[in-house]
Amino acid sequence: MHWHILGAGSLGCLWAARLAAQQHSVYLIMRTANALAHHQAHPYVALSDPQFLHTQHYPVKAQLAEHPQPIKNLVLACKAYDAQAAIGQVAHRLSSDSLVILLQNGLGSQQAVQSMLPNTRCIAASSTEGAYLAAPLHTVFAGQGHIWLGDIVPSVTASAPAQLASLQAAGIPCSWATDIAPVLWRKLAMNCAINPLTVIYNCLNGQLRHYPAQINTLCDELQRLLCRAGQATAACNLHQQVWDVIDNTAANSSSMRQDTLQQRRTEISYITGFACAQSLALECETPTLHTIHRQLQKTLLEQGLPTT
Ligand SMILES: NC(=O)c1ccc[n+]([C@@H]2O[C@H](COP(=O)([O-])OP(=O)(O)OC[C@H]3O[C@@H](n4cnc5c(N)ncnc54)[C@H](OP(=O)(O)O)[C@@H]3O)[C@@H](O)[C@H]2O)c1
Repeated sequence: MHWHILGAGSLGCLWAARLAAQQHSVYLIMRTANALAHHQAHPYVALSDPQFLHTQHYPVKAQLAEHPQPIKNLVLACKAYDAQAAIGQVAHRLSSDSLVILLQNGLGSQQAVQSMLPNTRCIAASSTEGAYLAAPLHTVFAGQGHIWLGDIVPSVTASAPAQLASLQAAGIPCSWATDIAPVLWRKLAMNCAINPLTVIYNCLNGQLRHYPAQINTLCDELQRLLCRAGQATAACNLHQQVWDVIDNTAANSSSMRQDTLQQRRTEISYITGFACAQSLALECETPTLHTIHRQLQKTLLEQGLPTT
């Protein structure tokens, strides 16, 4: 099967390596001619385990967005803030027979991409896998996890696409969700409850134990927002799961804090930004959420990082 992967970063290379290992034809869509030339000198992606005991190289091809080849299966593996621009560059290569899998965290970018591609089946992914780049085109599989996949526009008649079996056969641990919205909203709420505060207090997840009142109030508001958004099932036991994650990942630095410490743009607009916009649109009062969003913007500004 042919797979195009737009975004040769941490997750893009992880998906590319596993598909190439199963003899799929994998094409990375590179951002620049320089990046393409770099790849052509060594046409592989490398995949290492967290301890760097094993590093395997897998052959993949690469091309630029303007390449004329039609795209049948696309994995969009860029950050949420790049998703629309990236899709805009390859939209002419997609058709109503294409499948697009969106790996972006948070909410908002998936719906924006689907609206740019009204005739193409777009599938949102919610992934708990962890990866980072040790070098360009060399990804480290830092954390095992699971991926839920589901149609952005659910339809009672649509079943899982045939490509799901190929992904599973390639060792990508994914399952089909007939309704992906609760999965995405639940993850959004978890991210809103944990990530911004780890940036504001510049702390590890476990150190959030020092702020129980603020976190419980925030969870109350997020629960109300989820219910108002028609996602009552995603709101169940939110407080308990937030505290469980804080305890179980006590020594971890959240992805948003890692981005900030490494002077990288965060996905704030698709996490607290999206939640705040929804709370206004749905007239659901969430004062603590809004305060945390503003504090997060202030912290990012102080560090010279974008606030959107
Ligand atoms: N990494 C993880 O463990 C993990 C886990 C769960 C979810 N996620 C989510 O998955 C998404 C991807 O994360 P990531 O960590 O893989 O990001 P990443 O390492 O930053 O990779 C994104 C890649 O996309 C490329 N890109 C952006 N726009 C492009 C364009 N128009 N054409 C070609 N390439 C383009 C970027 O190139 P440049 O470097 O040139 O910008 C970069 O190589 C994010 O939404 C993230 O939150 C990641």
